[in-house]
Amino acid sequence: MVDHAVRGTGAGRALVEDMIDWAGRQGYAAIQFNAVVDTNAGAVHLYESLGFVTLGVAPGAFRHPQLGDVGLRIMWRELRRVETGPDPEPRA
Ligand SMILES: CC(C)(COP(=O)(O)OP(=O)(O)OC[C@H]1O[C@@H](n2cnc3c(N)ncnc32)[C@H](O)[C@@H]1OP(=O)(O)O)[C@@H](O)C(=O)NCCC(=O)NCCS
Repeated sequence: MVDHAVRGTGAGRALVEDMIDWAGRQGYAAIQFNAVVDTNAGAVHLYESLGFVTLGVAPGAFRHPQLGDVGLRIMWRELRRVETGPDPEPRA
């Protein structure tokens, strides 16, 4: 969690970039966040800008103190290239 006083100054991006770099060097295949609150626009924007995609949303899984029951996203980012087999269209 980034301190309120310095939010919006790049600390969150630096932390997530460092995590992606570290996990890739360790040989992890992917990173998955299991509970990203759907209304957390800052986090969702940050993760999507760094290549995360939303695999699904558990509807109403989080009781937000102001917004009531909101969804929880599972967000995932691949760290290695997945082999998909030979190219079906041979190149000339
Ligand atoms: C989410 C969080 C980690 C972001 O950290 P941060 O240091 O403020 O983020 P940065 O300054 O690196 O900004 C990253 C991007 O998010 C955007 N952003 C930040 N807050 C935003 C908001 N409330 N709405 C929309 N975009 C936002 C920034 O504009 C920036 O985008 P850009 O680089 O395309 O301009 C921080 O707000 C935080 O700790 N929140 C509380 C805990 C939390 O929600 N953690 C995530 C749980 S899944």
